[in-house]
Amino acid sequence: MTEPVAARPCAADVLARTRDLLDPALRRAVGTLPPSMRRVAGYHFGWWDARGRPTGGAGGTGGGGGGKALRPAFTLLAAEGAGGETTAALPAAVAVELVHNFSLIHDDVMDGDRVRRHRPTAWAVFGRAQAILAGDSLLALAFAVLATGTGSGPDGGTDGVPVLAARVQSLLDGQSADLDFEERAEVGLEECVRMAEGKTAALFGCACALGASYGGATPSQSVLLEAFGARVGLAFQIVDDLLGIWGDPAATGKPVHSDLRNRKKSLPVVAALASGTPAGAALAALYRRPLAEPDLARAARLVEEAGGRAWSLARVDGLLDEALESLRAAGLTPEATAGLEALARLAADRDR
Ligand code: IPE
Ligand code: IPE
Ligand code: MG
Ligand code: MG
Repeated sequence: MTEPVAARPCAADVLARTRDLLDPALRRAVGTLPPSMRRVAGYHFGWWDARGRPTGGAGGTGGGGGGKALRPAFTLLAAEGAGGETTAALPAAVAVELVHNFSLIHDDVMDGDRVRRHRPTAWAVFGRAQAILAGDSLLALAFAVLATGTGSGPDGGTDGVPVLAARVQSLLDGQSADLDFEERAEVGLEECVRMAEGKTAALFGCACALGASYGGATPSQSVLLEAFGARVGLAFQIVDDLLGIWGDPAATGKPVHSDLRNRKKSLPVVAALASGTPAGAALAALYRRPLAEPDLARAARLVEEAGGRAWSLARVDGLLDEALESLRAAGLTPEATAGLEALARLAADRDR
């Protein structure tokens, strides 16, 4: 038995506990990979340096080497909230974190980003081809781990494989749209929201739905938890987009202005472009050609002036309200509901 969460958990405690539960299982799973894949994966997780020597930790909850472990925290709490054993949802939590990390390794290749979690990205160290293979390896491992899980509900078995497979397809579709939008002058706000729902919200929703179902939730509870997670996930991506423009790299561990440099149609940018304001028109003109270094700060100012930042913050608030409504309707245990609410608030209001 693992210790239950405290009655009024704070998000940092939930994440620290998640790391404690998750890391041994994650390391065990990665340990089954061929040495070539393990080397890149272990580096990416922050366990080893580029030469395979231990670094002395997973990075903790501060967004260091191992990342924040947000998605598996949702999975484990959703399972507990449905009345299940934490351990019943552990394979699902590991699988969700593996899919997330597969997507990060590939995303850094696609976005050309050289720094993540305060370290050089896997492709920057091992080359694009090795990073792509390691990402593939983590994706296959996720399904192998998930297939070992059984639920703790009245009927025991739960098959999350088709659910995870469908959400991975949504993630890939969202990533494809994200890349397409770089090449397009006109992107509508609604299609941009759909892109973010695919690339990020789908996996958050899945993290919650899998946790609920491995914890023995009813189908309607799982549906509500998926809706909760997807709203949180969309809010999380909007905040990520804001941090990409105004975040502090010392906190985020990621380069600032990379989205602007790539002329990404992130949500604050598209909200600004669609604003019908002079600043929006000036941003559209700037975005028509490659941005030089001094253009980046100007683009950030124009996004703000055109109302892209205000739109984003208001949308995050609205999404958080909708998410919490679904969470309350799901009728989980009060402790887990409080923990999930704390995580949702952290996803919507964070600096890393
Ligand atoms: C980054 O996710 C990718 C997005 C979906 C925006 P996280 O910020 O959760 O990444 P880590 O795992 O904590 O580094
Ligand atoms: C987030 O992509 C979604 C996935 C990785 C699937 P981004 O490109 O927006 O995220 P960061 O900013 O690189 O973490
Ligand atoms: Mg990226
Ligand atoms: Mg990307």
